[in-house]
Amino acid sequence: MLYPDLLILDTHFGIAHTRWATHGEPSAVNCHPHRSDKNNEFVVIHNGIITNYKELRKYLISKGYEFESETDTEVIPKLIKYVYDNRENDYVSFSTLVELVIQQLEGAFALVFKSVHFPGEAVATRRGSPLLIGVRSKYELSTEQIPIQYNTHFLEGVQQKNFRNRVDSTVALHSVSDRKAVEFYFASDASAIIEHTNKVIYLQDDDIAAVAEGKLSLHRMSRCAGEDPVRAIQTLQMELQQIMKGNFKAFMQKEIFEQPESVFNTMRGRICFDTNTVVLGGLKDHLKEIRRCRRLILIGCGTSFHAGVATRQILEELTELPVMVELASDFLDRITPVFRDDVCFLISQSGETADTLMALRYCQGRGALTVGVTNTVGSSISRETDCGVHINAGPEIGVASTKAYTSQFVALTMFGLMMSEDRISLQKRRLEIINGLRMLPGLIKEVLTLDDKIRSIADELYQQRSLLVMGRGYNYATCLEGALKIKEITYMHSEGILAGELKHGPLALIDKHMPVIMIIMRDACYTKCHNALQQVTARQGRPIILCCQDDPEITRNAYKTIELPQTVDCLQGIISVIPLQLMSFHLAVLRGYDVDCPRNLAKSVTVE
Ligand code: G6P
Repeated sequence: MLYPDLLILDTHFGIAHTRWATHGEPSAVNCHPHRSDKNNEFVVIHNGIITNYKELRKYLISKGYEFESETDTEVIPKLIKYVYDNRENDYVSFSTLVELVIQQLEGAFALVFKSVHFPGEAVATRRGSPLLIGVRSKYELSTEQIPIQYNTHFLEGVQQKNFRNRVDSTVALHSVSDRKAVEFYFASDASAIIEHTNKVIYLQDDDIAAVAEGKLSLHRMSRCAGEDPVRAIQTLQMELQQIMKGNFKAFMQKEIFEQPESVFNTMRGRICFDTNTVVLGGLKDHLKEIRRCRRLILIGCGTSFHAGVATRQILEELTELPVMVELASDFLDRITPVFRDDVCFLISQSGETADTLMALRYCQGRGALTVGVTNTVGSSISRETDCGVHINAGPEIGVASTKAYTSQFVALTMFGLMMSEDRISLQKRRLEIINGLRMLPGLIKEVLTLDDKIRSIADELYQQRSLLVMGRGYNYATCLEGALKIKEITYMHSEGILAGELKHGPLALIDKHMPVIMIIMRDACYTKCHNALQQVTARQGRPIILCCQDDPEITRNAYKTIELPQTVDCLQGIISVIPLQLMSFHLAVLRGYDVDCPRNLAKSVTVE
């Protein structure tokens, strides 16, 4: 049956985009949607960057088009109007026009188009930037998979007729009897639509999705070998309440307090505490290959990079392999040598960070095995890597990453444990770490009870301009991550300093006015950290020290202490980062800033 009553549906479409400026300042004229002309014949919203926009703009100006904004995006509506005005066939469909337009675009994009020439229709497509379609229906969907239509000669009238008949490729309903039977949502991220539906279709690069007459169809230019000819409608497990703030002032605060559960969820079903075994399902088939590799390369940006720094030492110890840790952008800039026998870890909470995604494609191009460590099922990185681990921390909404960091930390440590299962010499160490992981949720709860104390310290610090965070060894990553949190949301200057480098420069910053946080835990670096403390106090520095409980020696030399429960050295960074997450939160609140939406930053940076 061809759904005759669909024709009576009310169809209505709206499009909007929250822009993260890449070309052109944030201003009304640079806002989306962008339009083809003053009559709004075609309007477009775009997430990404068009790298060949200058050439396209020049060409379109030569054809008489006038540009209103400074954005790269504006070439797209102009280009589609140009294609429309110069069409050879009156029956051209909206999606065909979009298909012709994207053939001219270079860069990354997720796009949604509307047009006065195609009322009630919308067309969306992507390349390099994420895009999904939410499907909400009052009725049972007749299909769980949408077949893709492959078109080679779309502009020919005869093919257009075929297009009209392609109802089998639509999201269809068993019965349609009212006017709001089905709704489609195009979004970059599932959290934007979860309050409306948990049924989603993830589009792949160059897929074109068209909604017309209340029906969705998917197509692409031509089929590549091995390509999946369908797109599945997936059911997300995310609950609305999971992405709500609850009683917290900000999502970031909620996410900090969720860490006892989120780290537990990272371990759930993967560690057997009776047999001391760790199984990461997404990696087990590749374990032999990974064990034969010649080095591990951990790649990420921002907090995800810090998770690599934090776990490098334990991975070196447990895998006995050389481990490199790389910032994705720098890794690409250096055209870093990568070989077939390398294993590259792409660490990304969102799974969509453009630099990390490009590093992944770079590593794949050189034949390395790629492993995704992401928090987002269905994300580009989790789809494109050869294998991987989902960290299962739950949705992270606050721009400043917190629970994803601790879960990435746990996931990478579990990988080390899995790799070392057969090493007799490492069994004692493995046991100690597995035991540490078992106790971790309880210890995190204990740290969270220090919240009031940390707020009172923040009260003393919030009017300062700078804050240094010092440590070494396993806690160097904590310093980098703590300083990043402070920078991101409090806009104070903050630096994470390797205490071993103190005498090579940073010591010059120390005097009685410079606020300093030091991390001194009972581990192999304890004595060296103690030396750094003496150097700071000798220059009238007044350090606030994160230390282990019952350490009178440290307490005597500190201006203030935050005493933390002790765990095994390689997991201590999970415990010590939490007071710094809390500290940055309280400083930002006291300074009057929006904790979840810091200025100039985006949760997921899907542009280079
Ligand atoms: C942005 C966010 C950071 C995040 C980084 C990497 O800069 O503001 O919080 O750490 O991207 O994001 P990813 O999703 O790849 O972990």
